[in-house]
Amino acid sequence: MDSIIVKGGTALSGQIPIAGAKNACLALMPATLLSDEPLTLTNAPRLSDIKTMTLLLQSLGAEVTSMQGGRVLAMSSHDLNNLTADYDIVRKMRASNLVLGPLLARAGRAVVSLPGGCAIGARPMDLHIAGLEALGAEIELKDGYLHAEARGGLKGAVIEQRFASVGATENIVMAATLAKGTTVLKNAAREPEIVDLVKCLRAMGAQIDGEGTDRIEIQGVDRLGGATHRVVADRIELGTYMIAPAIAGGELELIGGSMDLLPGFCEKLQEAGVTITQTNEGVKVSRANGRVHAVNVRTEVFPGFPTDLQAQMMALMCTADGVSDLEETIFENRFMHAPELMRMGANIDVHGGHARVTGVERLKGAPVMATDLRASVSLILAGLAAEGETVVNRVYHLDRGYERVEDKLGACGAVIERIKGE
Ligand code: UD1
Repeated sequence: MDSIIVKGGTALSGQIPIAGAKNACLALMPATLLSDEPLTLTNAPRLSDIKTMTLLLQSLGAEVTSMQGGRVLAMSSHDLNNLTADYDIVRKMRASNLVLGPLLARAGRAVVSLPGGCAIGARPMDLHIAGLEALGAEIELKDGYLHAEARGGLKGAVIEQRFASVGATENIVMAATLAKGTTVLKNAAREPEIVDLVKCLRAMGAQIDGEGTDRIEIQGVDRLGGATHRVVADRIELGTYMIAPAIAGGELELIGGSMDLLPGFCEKLQEAGVTITQTNEGVKVSRANGRVHAVNVRTEVFPGFPTDLQAQMMALMCTADGVSDLEETIFENRFMHAPELMRMGANIDVHGGHARVTGVERLKGAPVMATDLRASVSLILAGLAAEGETVVNRVYHLDRGYERVEDKLGACGAVIERIKGE
C-alpha cells in the first residue's frame, strides 16, 4: 500500500482545481439504471470509488465508458441482464446501495448485498428500506442480501424520514421518479448532492419539486430518457483545501469552488480567523501570520457543519490558540483520527461523540496510520503544519475520495510525495 510523506512548515500559495463531487457522482451514476437511453456525466472525478461504481453498474449489464481520462462517463442501461449487486463489489463501498431504488423502479426487482465502506459506525439501511417499502416494495434480508420486489410496480406515497439521510433520500427520490402517482418525501436531506441529482433526473424527464428543501415532491412518469449532466463541484474536497492554508499559512484559490456549498463550514473557518472570499473563479482562502482561534464545532446535516470535514477541522484545531469542543452527531465512532493526531503531539480528549482539543504551538511529524477516507487527509493537513516529516501509511482510503492530493498540494509549495507500496 502507498504512503504519503509530508515535510511541514512551508506556507502554501497558488491555485487548486476542485474536482466534481464524488458523492454526487456516486448517486448520479446509478440514475442510468432508470432509463434505456444514454446518460452522460461530465466533470466526473477520477477516483477509485468511481471505478468501483463503474464495475458495479457493468456487473448489472450497464455499459459505462470512461472518456477524457475519466472526466466524462458515458453510460447506457439499455439491457440490464443481472439484478444482483454482489457482496464482492458492494463491500468496498457503501454507496453501492444506491442501485437498489433505481433497479426496483426499472425492473421491479433487485438483490443488493448489505454494504461495507468506511468503518465509521453502524450505518444501517433501515431508512432506505422503510422508504422503498412505503412505495410498495417487499424487502427481505437473506444471507446478507436485501431481496426487494415490487410486484405490480411502485406506487407514490407520503414518507417521513426519522432522520434526513442523504443516501435514503437519493434511493427514494430515484425510485419515485418511475412510481405511479405522487410521492412526498418529508424530512428529506438538503445536501447539494441531492440538488445535483434532482437536476439530472429532471433533465432525464422526471417531475420533481422541492430539492434543497426538506420536502421533495415527485410526480411519477412512465419512462425517463437520456441526458448529459455536469457534476457539481466537490464541497468536501473544497473544504479540505480551504483548511490547507489555514493550517500551513499562505493563500490558495480553489478554482470551481463556491462558498454556497459550505455555509456552516465557512462560518466556522471565518470565526477561527481565516479570510475567505468568493472570486469569479472560485474561493480564495488565506491566513495571516499567527495561529487560528479555537472554535467549537457540531456536525449537522446541510447547511450545518459537514461530518465529512470534521477530521480536517480537528487537525486545524490541534494548532489553534485555545480550547475547542468538537461534537460529532452524524456518525458514532468518527474520531479514529484523534489517536493518530496525538502521535503528532496533539492534545485531544475524546469522550463518546465529543472531543476536546487543546491547541498546541506546533505539531511534530510522526509515522501515522490512515484509518478512513477523511481521517487520511486530516493527517496530511496536520503534516503540512508539523515540524519535520510525517509519513501517512495505508493511504488507499485517500484515493477513494481525493484526486492526486500530492500533486495538487505539491503544485502550491507543499513538500509532499507518494511512496509506492508493494
Ligand atoms: C453520505 C455521504 C457521506 C456523508 C454522509 C453524511 C455519499 C456517498 N456519502 O453517506 O460521505 O458522511 O452522507 O453527510 O454520499 N442512517 C440510518 N439508517 C439509514 C441510513 C442512515 O440510521 O437507513 C444513519 C447512519 O448510520 C448515519 C446517519 O444516518 O449515522 C447519516 O447517514 P446518511 O445521511 O444516510 O449518510 P450516507 O448516505 O451513508
